[in-house]
Amino acid sequence: MPEQPPLEGDWQLEYSGLPDGGPQRWWRSARGIAVSGPPHKLGPELEGRERGAGHPALARVIDTAEGWVVFEPLGPAPQDALAAVSAWPGEARVATGPLLSLIPACRVNVRRALRKLDCSKVDRTLDRPAEATVVEGPSLGGIHGGWLRQAGDRVVCLRFARFTREGRPDVDRAVTAYRAGLAFSDLGLLPHLLEEAILGRDDDAAETAREVFSRLARPEPSTVTVEVSGAPEWLDTSAWTGSRTPAQARRILHAVAGLTVTDHTLAVSVNPPIRKGRAARFEDRGVRRRRLFSRWYEGIRVDDEGLLSLTPEALADELVAGVAGTVLDATCGVGGLAIAAARTGARVVASDVSAQRLELAGSNAAIYDVELDLRRGDATRMVREVAHDVLLLDPPWGGRGYDRESMGLEDLGFDLGDVLAGTSAEVRLKLPRSFRVDELPGGPWTFRGAIDARGVLKFLVATRC
Ligand SMILES: C[S@@+](CC[C@H](N)C(=O)[O-])C[C@H]1O[C@@H](n2cnc3c(N)ncnc32)[C@H](O)[C@@H]1O
Repeated sequence: MPEQPPLEGDWQLEYSGLPDGGPQRWWRSARGIAVSGPPHKLGPELEGRERGAGHPALARVIDTAEGWVVFEPLGPAPQDALAAVSAWPGEARVATGPLLSLIPACRVNVRRALRKLDCSKVDRTLDRPAEATVVEGPSLGGIHGGWLRQAGDRVVCLRFARFTREGRPDVDRAVTAYRAGLAFSDLGLLPHLLEEAILGRDDDAAETAREVFSRLARPEPSTVTVEVSGAPEWLDTSAWTGSRTPAQARRILHAVAGLTVTDHTLAVSVNPPIRKGRAARFEDRGVRRRRLFSRWYEGIRVDDEGLLSLTPEALADELVAGVAGTVLDATCGVGGLAIAAARTGARVVASDVSAQRLELAGSNAAIYDVELDLRRGDATRMVREVAHDVLLLDPPWGGRGYDRESMGLEDLGFDLGDVLAGTSAEVRLKLPRSFRVDELPGGPWTFRGAIDARGVLKFLVATRC
C-alpha cells in the first residue's frame, strides 16, 4: 500500500484514470485530491501554475506538504475534451492575409524550419492569400484531453507544467484535439510540430509536419465520397462509405484498402481523390486500454495472452446484445465477452483451460460489479456438461502473428467442429477476418464484421440461431 498523505483528512486510495506520464493512483478525501511526486516532477508543475495564474482551467492547489500537492475536489473527466477546452473564454475572429500571417506564433522561424524539413513549395504556400478563424484566449498547452477534470461547474486541467503563456492558443487547442483523436486544424498544429521537430529533434513530429504542410500547400475539399468494393455480400460497409471529411477518408484508406476479409480483398475509392498520407500515430496507451475495458484504471488485471486476445468493450457489448437465459463463454480469457454478457443481466458460466486467466476474469468481473460462475475445463467438455441457452466462443487464433491472408479450421487452437457438435444452443463465434467462412461446420451461419469507432475491422462474428 503506498504511503498516505501526511495531511489531515480521511484519505481513500483511488485509480486516477490519468493518461501515462502521470500518477495512476491518488488519494481522495472531502478536502480534495492528494498527489505525491518527486521534486523534479512537482517543481515544474508548480512553476507552470505560477505562469498560468488566473487561467480558468487552473485546478486550485489547496495544500502542499513535502512531496505532496492537494488539489480542490475533482469529479470525472468531461465527456468531450475539445468542447470543454473550447468553452474556456476566448475570442474567435476571422483573419485574412498571407498564410504565414495566420500561423500562430512559434519559437522557430516557420519558413526556415519548413525548408530544413525539405518541404516543397514553401514560399509559394506561405505567401498565398488565405482566410482562417483564429481563436485567441486561454489555451491547453498541447496536453492530452485525459488530463481534464470537472471541478464543480468548471473544467480544469491537472497538468500545468506544460501550460504555455498566452500567444499560441490555437496551436494548443489544435494539438489537444489531435491527441484526443478529434478533428484538428492544420494551421494550428503546424507550429507545434515544427517546434517539436526542430527544437526537440523529434523525427515523428518532422514527418507529421511535412504531411500537414503538404495539405496546406494543396488544400483539400471539405468533404469527399468514400466507396468500398470487393466486400463479401454479408459485410455491412456503411461504417466506411458515404460523405466523409478528408481526415476520416484517410483513416478509412489506411484501415480498409487492401484488407482481406475471408477470401475477398477490399478496395477503397475516394472522390475527389485525396493524398493517403501516413497512418495516424500518437495514440495514447491510456486511450487504448480504456477501449478494452472502460474501467481499466480501476484495477483491471490481465496476462500477456489475455491482453492480446481481449475483446474491446464496445465490440463485446455488440456481440452479446440480446443474449438471455444462461450464457456459456467456453473460452473466457480474462473476461472481455463474459463480463459484457453478465452486464446484460444474463447468468454467465465462464470457462477456460487456463486457471490463471479464470482468476483474472473473476477479479475483473468484480470491478464491473457482476458475477461469473467460473469453471476450469476444455471447451469440448464444457459445452456438453454445462446447460446453456447461448454459447460464446472465441477460439485462440495464434497470437499477434496470426495469418492475416487466409485461415481455416486447422489454424484455430482447438477442434471447433468437435466443440460445435456438442451444442444445439445459439452460438456467437468470434473469428479472424481472414477466416474462410465457407469452411464453418454445423450451420446455417450468418456473418457480420465487428468494426470499431476508428473504422478498424477487428474480427468477424458468426452467429447460429
Ligand atoms: C481469444 S482468448 C478469449 C478472449 C476473451 N473472449 C476476451 O474477450 O477476453 C481464447 C482463450 O481460450 C482459451 N483456450 C484455449 N484452448 C482452449 C480449450 N481447448 N478449451 C477452453 N479454452 C481454451 C485460452 O486459454 C484463452 O484464454
